Amino acid sequence: MAELIFNTCLNYLVLALGIFMLLSESPSPANAASVQYNVVSLGAKADGKTDSSKAFLSAWASACGSTSAATVYVPQGRFLVRSASFNGPCKNSAITVRIDGTLVAPSDYNVNGNVGNWIVLMHVTGVSVIGGTLDGQGTRLWACKNSGKSCPTGATNLKITNSQNILVSGLRSLNSQMFHIVINACQDVKMQGVKVSASGTSPNTDGIHIGASTGVTILNSKIGTGDDCVSIGPGSNNLWIQNIACGPGHGISIGSLGKDQQEDGVQNVTVKTVTFTGTQNGVRIKSWARPSNSFARNILFQHVIMNNVQNPIIIDQNYCPDSGCPSQASGVRVSDVTYQDIHGTSATEVAVKFDCSSKYPCTGIRMQDVKLIYQNQVATASCTHAGGSASGMEQPSSCL
Ligand SMILES: *[C@@H]1O[C@H](CO)[C@@H](O)[C@H](O)[C@H]1NC(C)=O
Repeated sequence: MAELIFNTCLNYLVLALGIFMLLSESPSPANAASVQYNVVSLGAKADGKTDSSKAFLSAWASACGSTSAATVYVPQGRFLVRSASFNGPCKNSAITVRIDGTLVAPSDYNVNGNVGNWIVLMHVTGVSVIGGTLDGQGTRLWACKNSGKSCPTGATNLKITNSQNILVSGLRSLNSQMFHIVINACQDVKMQGVKVSASGTSPNTDGIHIGASTGVTILNSKIGTGDDCVSIGPGSNNLWIQNIACGPGHGISIGSLGKDQQEDGVQNVTVKTVTFTGTQNGVRIKSWARPSNSFARNILFQHVIMNNVQNPIIIDQNYCPDSGCPSQASGVRVSDVTYQDIHGTSATEVAVKFDCSSKYPCTGIRMQDVKLIYQNQVATASCTHAGGSASGMEQPSSCL
């Protein structure tokens, strides 16, 4: 009898344990594929006309407020979204924004044109944006600007600011009014398979701008636009930029630096395996010709192909639009810049130009295996206040 009771108890115990295990293993929002918030279920309309901003913000609020991993899902179709800020801090650090469709900015540039940014991601940690298209509808604003009329400044398509651990994969950015993508005050941002596309005559439509950020990686991306493909502003370090096709556009630029007297410099930047096609510049370092404590150092440009590029290799320390620095020298210290395996064609005779500061000459410029041709002839190199060394093949011959 005692044995029977014991066995029964044991059975119940096993049963209870089984149920407990079943329950704890059953899919729950906490550990299954993350909870998903579909913008269409929340009222967004895929007609390209109905303002869907509220649905997007409400999907974000739910994902951000979730204590476990969460997904915002944007199905196929065109969704009109006004200027919107998707803010943290969030209650989890595993938010995925999966976009199959297109976000469309209002076609009237007066709606977003004075707010600076269209889509903003701010104060977040651990966010992945997968797929999607951002259509900034910038063409009318560019036409306004190009006609010389007074027009709004325009909005950046996507600004990611004060955030960490961000992945952007497979995003397309079209026709931004201003910069396409800005990464500002961030740590550990990876962008891959990004496509930026705007007319070569669109003003100030930089592809990806990085400022005051650490650990930014840009891989496998194609950028065609009216301004810099990638621009790197003060306070940026540990950047890795690889497998980029750039053109049309103004190239990859470190700077402008040294606009301010007190400024954080740029260091440890690798730019490798890049093709420039028909761009104004290839690899450029640019600084204002005015006093500053800023710097650019430990920069590597490697495995670059130039196709008909106006200034394939250039350091310009005499940038001074609107005479904001008459007869002043740049305070920006440029040092340890390596150009390695750079080939192709220059659209102008001067293919290599180092125009450095008279007060702080460039030091540690290294050229290795550079071959640039201008109209089937040898191109030329020009050095002002630039020091360093050259090795391997050098065409044009080095002026260092
Ligand atoms: C330079 O940046 C890379 C990332 O691009 C990083 O892996 C490396 O540790 C950095 N080097 C230094 C000395 O900080």
